[in-house]
Amino acid sequence: MYRDRIGLTSLWGKVVGAEDAALLIKDGMTVGMSGFTRAGDAKVVPLALAERATEEKVKITLLTGASLGSDVDKTLAQAGCLARRIPFQADPTLRAAINRGEVMFVDQHLSETVEMLRSHQLPAIDVAVIEAVAITPEGGIVPTTSIGNSASFAMLADKIIVEINLTQSLDLIGLHDVYIPTRRPYREPIPVTSPKDRVGLSYIPVDPSKIAAIVITEKLDSSAAIAAPDAETFAIADHLIQFFRHEVKKGRVGTSLLPLQAGIGSIANAVLHGFVNSPFHDLTMYSEVLQDSTFELFDSGKLAFASGSSITLSGTKGREVFGDIGRYKDRLVLRPQEISNHPEVIRRLGIIAINTALEADIYGNVNSTHVNGSMMMNGVGGSGDFARNGFLSVFVTKSVAKNGRISSIVPMVTHVDHCEHDVDVLVTEQGLADLRGLAPRERARLIIENCVHPEYKDMARDYLTEATARGGHTPHMLERAFEWHLAFQRDGSMRPLARAAE
Ligand code: COA
Repeated sequence: MYRDRIGLTSLWGKVVGAEDAALLIKDGMTVGMSGFTRAGDAKVVPLALAERATEEKVKITLLTGASLGSDVDKTLAQAGCLARRIPFQADPTLRAAINRGEVMFVDQHLSETVEMLRSHQLPAIDVAVIEAVAITPEGGIVPTTSIGNSASFAMLADKIIVEINLTQSLDLIGLHDVYIPTRRPYREPIPVTSPKDRVGLSYIPVDPSKIAAIVITEKLDSSAAIAAPDAETFAIADHLIQFFRHEVKKGRVGTSLLPLQAGIGSIANAVLHGFVNSPFHDLTMYSEVLQDSTFELFDSGKLAFASGSSITLSGTKGREVFGDIGRYKDRLVLRPQEISNHPEVIRRLGIIAINTALEADIYGNVNSTHVNGSMMMNGVGGSGDFARNGFLSVFVTKSVAKNGRISSIVPMVTHVDHCEHDVDVLVTEQGLADLRGLAPRERARLIIENCVHPEYKDMARDYLTEATARGGHTPHMLERAFEWHLAFQRDGSMRPLARAAE
């Protein structure tokens, strides 16, 4: 049966078991694997590698598109297989190993990894492991539910292992658009001028002689663990919808807005879901991860087209969508992440970028990655690609975390992923701060009044008043800027400090 999926018959003899294929990966190698936010990841070869690592030393540098499912990151981390991990992860076991300093994690803008590989600024890929629906008669690789960095990994690697996944529908063929930017210094403009444009091939073109092994699998993608929208995320969505209504009224955007990007996670998914009951129509998305909300927007008739790099769905939604992907196919395209996240295209299309902050400060600087400045959560992902280059950069967060023990709006963020210059609008369930055209002192007043939780408002006001009395364009009191975080570290809560300020 699998032979139907390998169009180039000379490759039939390359089919081997996962353990044999994994033997191509040796200690010290740099390996590029498919996978973007739990979608389309190589599954059985990395797990076979982890098994081997329990008996012999195999430590690799692993590059992927983004985070992986199927416990691949967890199992590789537990087996001590990972020396270095690039450019994103979201696994608690790997996260702990990173924070213990055992795995060197390079947290990178997702559009940049293959640019750096191509220009030899990162170690060359020895082996690429790519999940595929099929191999074409020319030997081209048809990816599954994500493209991520797979195209460039396969094209740049010395050897390729293909995991043909029989559970992935053949209807996925034709969904992908593989365009690779031309070489510098003769690079040409990327010809994407609308989210709908198809500018490349529907498969990854490779030299078939590099395909060293083919493994047949039936392992399903892991489903996304997305929390259902709650009162706070409904409120955040509501504030944003009101804001966009205002923007339409002002004539800054039409009723189809501009192409939307929404980041990973429960909050961004819930916010996008909020567009289902909005007055906008014929919406488009030019995003990286397409989550449940994308398909809810399709089904509600609000969304006309979506371009992404991966489709990551909850269990129920996944069965529904992939069981009948043909229904959506003419309204969808999957692109390499360097194209879905490319600054040139994002600026040209005028993307409305909606990403999630862990914490933001009163001036609008955003920390998306480091708890208390030190502990890595997931990584910056593509949020920076979109925030810096979009038409409008929106950051959303609940105003408090950990049952109110943490205020997500603080005097100074402990790590900066998105500086104030890249943040136009900040939204919590308390309200929205439109920061465009405002100076730092004005931004701070607006953020405190509109976004800070009532429990922490007095404390924030006091900080700003005292800091402003000392002067400065962006007033701060350096000795007190991290007082709130220190209180959390010391007492497990920022609340006692807030009560003292009341
Ligand atoms: N301090 C400490 N912890 C915080 C916090 C803060 N200020 N704010 C949130 N958290 C914790 C939450 O308590 C939760 O912890 P838990 O996993 O122990 O329950 C965790 O962070 C996730 O927060 P949650 O409120 O569930 O939001 P989310 O699922 O939407 O994730 C991010 C939020 C910021 C972690 C996530 O969006 C992310 O990784 N962003 C960076 C990458 C990115 O933006 N990519 C976009 C393009 S891919």
